[in-house]
Amino acid sequence: MILERSNSINLNKLQTQLSGVANRPDIEELSKMIKMYQLYQAGQREISTKLENLDAEFQVNYDYNPIHHMESRMKDVQSLVQKAERKGYELTADSIQANIYDIAGIRVITNYMDDIYNVEKLLTHQTDVTLLRRKDYIKHPKESGYRSLHIVVKVPVFQAKGPIDVPVEIQIRTVGMDMWASLEHKLRYKTDTNQELVDKYGDQLKGYADELEQIERGMQGIHKELI
Ligand code: GTP
Ligand code: MG
Repeated sequence: MILERSNSINLNKLQTQLSGVANRPDIEELSKMIKMYQLYQAGQREISTKLENLDAEFQVNYDYNPIHHMESRMKDVQSLVQKAERKGYELTADSIQANIYDIAGIRVITNYMDDIYNVEKLLTHQTDVTLLRRKDYIKHPKESGYRSLHIVVKVPVFQAKGPIDVPVEIQIRTVGMDMWASLEHKLRYKTDTNQELVDKYGDQLKGYADELEQIERGMQGIHKELI
């Protein structure tokens, strides 16, 4: 099951969203960006299909689904512009394409921890998928306690003029890690950085991340004996 957080885009919408931005790209550049979005969305679909196919094959071979569910999202234009400004990148399609890899994103929620690395291996071993970046926040959790495997892969999208490689960011995590990250994200980003709450619950949440890991390992052990 894929939950698609759809973000369709067109010239009018883009012009409205960028109306307050200094150094606003001209029409020609905006058209390029729209084409880029379409291309990236196609790349996202290519990878989503590959992941669905892997999951289905597992179901047939082992009577088991490693993937609990997936979510896909396109970075909205405002966050794209904010990120480009924050990092000092030029606001052009070429510069964005060269520097920002998380325009197309897929989150894969697995049942167990081993499934994370299995899914990664099976996907990145496909001949048309190339691993570009990898951050293992499971082996090296963030200071907050955040755990997840982040990879960026490139996949060719076949256009009328031939194939174009497109980067797609994939965050792979267990159900437990996902539950944790959603709550922690709310605490950190949605409360307008309410420092008081972060101070109050930050350590507690970090402790929960460790506990969840222990629980998930234990449950994985039991599950292994059952299959
Ligand atoms: P940016 O993409 O520019 O933010 O930097 P980066 O590429 O170094 O980011 P990173 O690999 O840390 O991943 C960014 C994404 O991971 C965020 O958009 C979140 O979805 C998620 N993430 C990273 N750290 C945390 C964290 O401490 N808590 C939660 N809840 N999510 C996090
Ligand atoms: Mg990122």
